[in-house]
Amino acid sequence: MKPEIYLTTDGSKTLYSKEFDEHYHSKNGAFTESQHIFINLGFKTIEKPEVNILEIGYGTGLNAIMTYKSNELNPKKVFYHGIEKSPISSETFKNMGYIEYFDLTSREIKIFSEDWDKPLKISQNFKLLKQNTDFIKFTPQRSYDLIYFDAFSPDTQPEMWTYENLKKILTKLSTDGVFVTYCSRGDLKRNLRTLGMNLKRFSGPPGKRHVIRASKH
Ligand SMILES: C[S@@+](CC[C@H](N)C(=O)[O-])C[C@H]1O[C@@H](n2cnc3c(N)ncnc32)[C@H](O)[C@@H]1O
Repeated sequence: MKPEIYLTTDGSKTLYSKEFDEHYHSKNGAFTESQHIFINLGFKTIEKPEVNILEIGYGTGLNAIMTYKSNELNPKKVFYHGIEKSPISSETFKNMGYIEYFDLTSREIKIFSEDWDKPLKISQNFKLLKQNTDFIKFTPQRSYDLIYFDAFSPDTQPEMWTYENLKKILTKLSTDGVFVTYCSRGDLKRNLRTLGMNLKRFSGPPGKRHVIRASKH
């Protein structure tokens, strides 16, 4: 079932999944949410010169594009690995308005939205691998410094948020690594603490009281 385009209150677009009855980003602002949670609380806090990022739920590619753009201002060597079970069509991507807003070149458009399952160099400092696979069957092979956990909510997709699935990626998180997500439910927090993570609470983007950032240190 093809997701539908939805205009959020900060003027940016997201998708609505009929299959899951859920939006890909906050209805209160897709760009605002991505910037606040994944870039400000995630990417910008990593001080290493090389950063390996794992994203669960690549979706529209918005978090990847925002990370890429943020990295251009203060470049590090980034390897970005996105996991996605149902890639959106390039036609849907073109209708999201991200190309115009982020001023993406035709090469960048192709890399962010079309070429799956091979590592591609977008720039000297940014490599992207979009893997079309089911997270439940995915076994991470490398280690990561930052995890963006952006699955649909635990109410909709409880199988994504299980202790076992969190464990399989958190064991691959480097000792100074960081895990960020939009969800701050009690059972998630308990699982993260059991897995040895330290949790910090931050105010959330519009419409969300708080979010958490988990780190190994
Ligand atoms: C909340 S949206 C992610 C939004 C995305 N990060 C973005 O910036 O557009 C959740 C995503 O998880 C994907 N997904 C759902 N089940 C999955 C699974 N089992 N394995 C991998 N991806 C899955 C959905 O297709 C959807 O793209």
